Amino acid sequence: MRRGATALAIAAVTGLALAGCSDSSGSGPELKVSGAYMPQPVGDGEMAAGYVIVKNSGDTADKLTSVTSTLSGDITMHVTKDQKMEQVSSLPVPAKGELDLERGGNHLMFMGLKTRPELGEKVAVELHFEKTDPIKVELPVKETTYNPKNS
Ligand code: CU
Repeated sequence: MRRGATALAIAAVTGLALAGCSDSSGSGPELKVSGAYMPQPVGDGEMAAGYVIVKNSGDTADKLTSVTSTLSGDITMHVTKDQKMEQVSSLPVPAKGELDLERGGNHLMFMGLKTRPELGEKVAVELHFEKTDPIKVELPVKETTYNPKNS
């Protein structure tokens, strides 16, 4: 109790807003990644899509801002609007909600693949967020037509 009162007193004196420090309240974004996969690319395997679900159990929203991988140096985030893909600079992870990448919808786009992903292989990816530290995730390579909604 005494410690809290002291912190408040310091904030009052210095004019610092405690709310500005995301660690002080312990209620920042809390992210968990699930359902990751990559459908095996067709043809030359020049490009591939990737899907993940990012759940946020915290009460602060976050954003997926970039994706990196040893498979490709050119990974972008796409939304699908009127059946057309559109590149975006970030994807929202709402507070107490989730960012759901799925077939026919939002997805990650891997261009200029360095190797051809084979079935059963796992593609290591790092997800970068606006607030949360990067999260490493492995995307298992599935059949080209794989859709978790149908299985
Ligand atoms: Cu795309």
